Amino acid sequence: MSGMLRDKTDVRAPGGDSGNLTQLEFLALNSEFNIADGHARQALTAGQSKIVEDLPLLFAEGEKRPVEELETEAHAAFFTALGQHSYPATPGRVLSCYSSSVAMEILSRALAETVESVALVHPTFDNIADLLRGNGLKLVPLEEDPLHGADLDPALLKSVGCVFITTPNNPTGRVVSKERLTRLAEQCAEYGVVLALDTCFRGFDTRAQYDHYEVLNASGVRWAVIEDTGKLWPTLDLKVGMLVHAENLGLPVEKIYSDILLGVSPLLLAMVRRFSEDAANGGLEDLHRFIAGHRAMVRAELAGLPGVSVPDPDSRASVERVRIDDLTGTQVWALLREHNVYALPCRPFHWADHSQGDHTLRLALARSTDPLTRSVRALRHVLSSR
Ligand SMILES: Cc1ncc(COP(=O)(O)O)c(C=O)c1O
Repeated sequence: MSGMLRDKTDVRAPGGDSGNLTQLEFLALNSEFNIADGHARQALTAGQSKIVEDLPLLFAEGEKRPVEELETEAHAAFFTALGQHSYPATPGRVLSCYSSSVAMEILSRALAETVESVALVHPTFDNIADLLRGNGLKLVPLEEDPLHGADLDPALLKSVGCVFITTPNNPTGRVVSKERLTRLAEQCAEYGVVLALDTCFRGFDTRAQYDHYEVLNASGVRWAVIEDTGKLWPTLDLKVGMLVHAENLGLPVEKIYSDILLGVSPLLLAMVRRFSEDAANGGLEDLHRFIAGHRAMVRAELAGLPGVSVPDPDSRASVERVRIDDLTGTQVWALLREHNVYALPCRPFHWADHSQGDHTLRLALARSTDPLTRSVRALRHVLSSR
């Protein structure tokens, strides 16, 4: 890793108050042992390789066919593969973006037109908090235990214009159940609060694949959902993020979208259709087995190390947190870096109180098995030498 990259990202205090997760992920990009970012970097399956071989055909299709048709097909294939049968198929209700962060920026800007405060799940991926704050919104942390437990406090609902939840959450993998979403939507509808979801990791967890749009529509709540193909398939970051919204959302998302984008490439849309079809035809099950195998390997390699535990035993997301009682995540991050292994210290996920993430490290599981195993062995070595 060159000094130039380090200087460019200026992460002198990783995970400190000045550094964000993406800066740390950037440092890892050129390492063979990059287990930092949550993007999909494993090898293509046989079915996916066939799609990549067909890229010239998909390009030709993108040149010839109307983009609206390709977009409609891509959305239908993607939402069907993930059980989202009641997604809005009407034009303009699913806004295709080059990444979910672009979708998030559009939603944040739109919220900022009328909303002052947002209740945001805590912890979660820090760029969600940063994009909301960057648009002038005030944030109120919504801790996961109360979020998944009883009703939301009416005082909270009176004080915010939006409740924003990542489900499955990153880094914890926690999923909002159908019963819970039904109640949250009812409560938000009652108080006139927008309910926004980031479901970028739902492809990994069948528990997050019940038909969310059916629940949201039935409640009458003003809702918005950010969907993503980017965490699922190893397509070299060729991905689509989608901003899906209720007819009654009442925010200028389509206007702000048009301030930023005309649309995404028809080649991408054709790829999303094919990868979604492959996912529906057994690809998702293969992916679930692959990630479960990696999770089991991580847990087996780290088992028995004193003071080392996994805080998210039920997670099925493509990331795994590790807790180390007597070292900080930042210390372990630095020790691993001496072996050219890059994980993520969890401080920045706790966007309202970094100290809550002090003793955890996040590992990415969507990697090829050999470099992931070697990285986890380096972690075991580092933790055994304490
Ligand atoms: C939950 C969640 N949402 C959104 C994003 C942003 O994705 P992208 O970098 O593809 O825009 C991430 C990135 O890891 C994430 O974890």
